[in-house]
Amino acid sequence: MRLQLNQPENFAVEVRRIGEDKNPVIIVDNVLANALEVREFALGSRFSAGHEGDYYPGYMSACSLPGMTQLTRWVAEFAWRNVYQLEDAPFLDLKEVASSSFFAAFAPRMDGSFINVHVDSHSWLAVVLYLSPPAIESGTAFWRNKESALQSFIGGEDSLLGIQKVEALFGVNILDRLKQAYAMDPVVSMNEVRERLFASKKVSPPFSAESCDVWERLDHVSVKFNRMVVYPTWQFHSVAYPNYLPPKHLRDARLTLNTFVKYPLRKPESGLKIAAVEGIEL
Ligand SMILES: [Fe+2]
Repeated sequence: MRLQLNQPENFAVEVRRIGEDKNPVIIVDNVLANALEVREFALGSRFSAGHEGDYYPGYMSACSLPGMTQLTRWVAEFAWRNVYQLEDAPFLDLKEVASSSFFAAFAPRMDGSFINVHVDSHSWLAVVLYLSPPAIESGTAFWRNKESALQSFIGGEDSLLGIQKVEALFGVNILDRLKQAYAMDPVVSMNEVRERLFASKKVSPPFSAESCDVWERLDHVSVKFNRMVVYPTWQFHSVAYPNYLPPKHLRDARLTLNTFVKYPLRKPESGLKIAAVEGIEL
């Protein structure tokens, strides 16, 4: 089994720029030539249930399918050059950009409460490929936090330099908004900010796609079989699934192939001397 991409030069690509940060949302339909085969492979995979710290309220199956390297490179190069219109740089390596992928089946219990709106600060871009049947009426929603006016956020106590780089390269505004929102507030650490933004904002299913007193909806992309959605991980986002009920069978679940693309930073030379071996796809 491998991911077979349709010809990227024939991709029908829609790029939206959302909110004041103009974060891109890249939508590509009909990405895979063998999407049904990939869905069947996913349905036959071994899954494990998410844990509290994983956040994802469902089942995940790590996968490393050949073909993902080509998709990752296309996504990274398209985002860097076409969307952000950035030049090559000495610190950059778009060819060697790393990614990790997993199949995900959405299955929160109705009596649970979950952090739905979130960011994924461990990576650069999130790629969600919908593999659900047409009956699944859900999507991915993008949000702005009303209290802080933030639409982008990068968590972690040691994230200051990372935030500055993201602001400089990708034109987002995080630090000024943090200053304005919390200068006259007892909050003194990024962990406390994260707590205010996420942990105290758990919700129970179903998951609305409409604005509320905490979150203003900036945009929404609907699920469509074989559609890929790409967005920067710092943009607040969530599963939107207003008619959600727990699926009875994996076939009926919101099934996605999720990929996190790492920052395309040149890696230091590895000291490990590894022989080239034919047949291994990196
Ligand atoms: Fe996410």
